[in-house]
Amino acid sequence: MAVLDQLTSQQAIELENKYGAHNYHPLPVVLTRGEGVYVWDVDGKKYYDFLSAYSAVNQGHCHPKIVNALIKQSQNLTLTSRAFYNDILGKYEKFACEYFGFDKLLPMNTGAEAVETALKLCRKWAYEVKGIDENAAEIIVCKNNFHGRTTTIISFSNDPVARKHFGPFTNGFIKIDYNNIEALETALKNNPNVAGFLVEPIQGEAGVYVPDDGYLAKAKKLCEAYNVLFIADEVQTGIARTGKLLAVDYESVKADILILGKAISGGVYPVSAVLANDAIMNVIKPGNHGSTFGGNPLAAAVAMAALEVIKDEQLAKNAFKLGNLFRSELQKYIDTSNIVKLVRGKGLLNAIVINDDEDSDTAWNICLALSDNGLLAKPTHGNIIRFAPPLVMTEDQLLDCVSIIIKTLKQFEN
Ligand SMILES: Cc1ncc(COP(=O)(O)O)c(C=O)c1O
Repeated sequence: MAVLDQLTSQQAIELENKYGAHNYHPLPVVLTRGEGVYVWDVDGKKYYDFLSAYSAVNQGHCHPKIVNALIKQSQNLTLTSRAFYNDILGKYEKFACEYFGFDKLLPMNTGAEAVETALKLCRKWAYEVKGIDENAAEIIVCKNNFHGRTTTIISFSNDPVARKHFGPFTNGFIKIDYNNIEALETALKNNPNVAGFLVEPIQGEAGVYVPDDGYLAKAKKLCEAYNVLFIADEVQTGIARTGKLLAVDYESVKADILILGKAISGGVYPVSAVLANDAIMNVIKPGNHGSTFGGNPLAAAVAMAALEVIKDEQLAKNAFKLGNLFRSELQKYIDTSNIVKLVRGKGLLNAIVINDDEDSDTAWNICLALSDNGLLAKPTHGNIIRFAPPLVMTEDQLLDCVSIIIKTLKQFEN
């Protein structure tokens, strides 16, 4: 088989199974093209994408403005490493700092790298500014978090599948219940070694758990009172996904350290970033941290275009409006059905909980049926299905998707 031959679905799946590590369990759909809210498989079947590459493709597949930025920059300069300056990184850093309201940006590539960067930054700040004894700093995290896959990050995960046989783990983390402000206060009280509180404004991977109104604002206040950094992981919730530019904007919270990834590039290229003000970011000195690809010219060009699209096309506003419509339409169906327990979410980051055991395969089977019916979604944990389409969707398209989802769910009613 020549490398450029068009593969059948079966051939593509067999190749991945034989030559790829089995670290994912994909739906049996082989995609070859994407445009806006749609993707096509190798047999020409068209689907609505209701995952958006885990919220990376907020601006829609192959957005022409972002793709053009990639093409234009790739013909000029792609990678210099940070051994030298380049003429676009500074422009991007200024653009993104003004866009999100911070003094400085540290560029990385993947979400997990940005989380690692934030943890290192927080610890360094703790020793050099807050005055915590060397190696004593602790960072508070939440149960059922998902922040990525590195050894340090899985050290504070409580997902047994993500952790088993990957130890020994990194120390220095305190795990508390999510959405429990008393638990946070207890962890902060009488512990001068706490450096930061790392939190997802909505727990995406865990199943789109939206905390109570006021939780984030109260948590931020507590962090201020105890001189602890509030670190917002907006890798999944950020960049207009939840109906605001950032999910913390719902509570007018300004993070001390902001972590971004995924849709900061519109899914066109791996770009991530950590933003903070000078009092924090200035603890990082040459040689402390870095990445060969972090801040490369392609990433800078792509990220600026991707962020411009968010503003130009008012995608936060669209996500807010369509999210309300999505939940209210699904709620009408849920009120009359026994297959779905509830719908929850904010903007276009939503999930339904299937009325079955956590370890049942109903959610998986519903996703298979959804794909037969022309819509791609994936279970998050057990019986929860996440629905996160590109934010460039129109109201008509959304209503079409709602009818596909309801039609499919009805196939599973008892
Ligand atoms: C909240 C959050 N943080 C970090 C990550 C890790 O990002 P990446 O897969 O790019 O390493 C994810 C990925 O899903 C995420 O949802």
